[in-house]
Amino acid sequence: MHLTPSEELLLDGEDGYVAQKAMEILTTLGDIYDADRLIPIRSAQIAGVSYKTIGDAGLEWISDLAGTVKVPSILNPAGMDRLRWEELGISEEFAEKQEQIIHAYERLGVAAWCTCTPYYLRDDLSRAGDHLAWSESSAVSYANSIMGSRTNREGGPSALAAALIGKTPNYGYHLDENRIPTIEIHVEGRLSGTDYGALGYLAGAIAGDRVPLFQLESVPSNDERKALGAAMAASGAVALYYVKGVPPHPVACDIRERITIEHREIAEVYAHTGRCDPDIIALGCPHCSVAELTELRDLLRDKTVETEFWVCTSRKLRDQHPNLVAGIESSGAKVICDTCMVVSPICERYGCMMVSSGKALAYVPHMCGVDAVFGSVEECVRAAVSR
Ligand code: F3S
Repeated sequence: MHLTPSEELLLDGEDGYVAQKAMEILTTLGDIYDADRLIPIRSAQIAGVSYKTIGDAGLEWISDLAGTVKVPSILNPAGMDRLRWEELGISEEFAEKQEQIIHAYERLGVAAWCTCTPYYLRDDLSRAGDHLAWSESSAVSYANSIMGSRTNREGGPSALAAALIGKTPNYGYHLDENRIPTIEIHVEGRLSGTDYGALGYLAGAIAGDRVPLFQLESVPSNDERKALGAAMAASGAVALYYVKGVPPHPVACDIRERITIEHREIAEVYAHTGRCDPDIIALGCPHCSVAELTELRDLLRDKTVETEFWVCTSRKLRDQHPNLVAGIESSGAKVICDTCMVVSPICERYGCMMVSSGKALAYVPHMCGVDAVFGSVEECVRAAVSR
């Protein structure tokens, strides 16, 4: 990989040990994937925050780093709600370690927003054509497929290395040739709401790491496309997809396989519901938008939930919309911030989780060891209030 003279100096340690290590990560990746050079990024989104997933080794690694990120950089969800951890049953030891991790990132200049939907909070993080280094897979899909930016599915260390240097190796989804759809998926019937998460759950397993082009009978909203991309990133490794007729459009197509997903198959994802009796209902994977919070507030109006009911979102949105939050919480549901049902250890205490997200449906059984059932948002609310 070609390095400029100033990049060579960084790699030689001219700017200190941490910049040198960051350059080593980036150049190693660049050499593995045959990148020609480093390219500037607009922002970084950094996973590897929950103490549940990175443990003491991760805490030690991040605590030893010094330096300052060169671009706006945001943290992924952590393992707990930073204000309500005690009420939710997180141990003091876990909370202490979690805070140490977050503070270590903050010392590097990373914003502790702890969310997988940073694009709801600042519109200058990702614009069409920008190169990014984002690591949470649903955020990667959103940036590539909806915002028209370009990012690989970074690991936590490579996203942080890119943030510290302000550059990333030019390979993978940064290049036009890897952004060409190769599988066309025709979907029968009109879809709405959580149908898109169910579709993503099915389509990701088929597409693997290919770039799908969807032919749909209905036009999805951005929140619906968020759910579709998140689910495909979890049941498969899809980082970029297109919907025919909806921007951003592919520059070219090289369709090698065409498949059809029938409406019946999507309905079968819902049919999982009832295989276990949910003792927790958790929504907001990826973290809820204002529109999704509003829908929930309306559905929960004048109702009382009789099951543990989580609504996950970012703390910034929670703080910006206190009336919405109060409306949801008056039902007994909890608006949880900084974390989610997958990266928090709390959910492992439950036996059966009801979710409205295809991504959570794919991850919860494997990452939390908890059975999962899938329902629409309305079905989740019905299940919560009808005990
Ligand atoms: Fe976000 Fe957690 Fe889902 S990080 S995408 S809410 S698994």
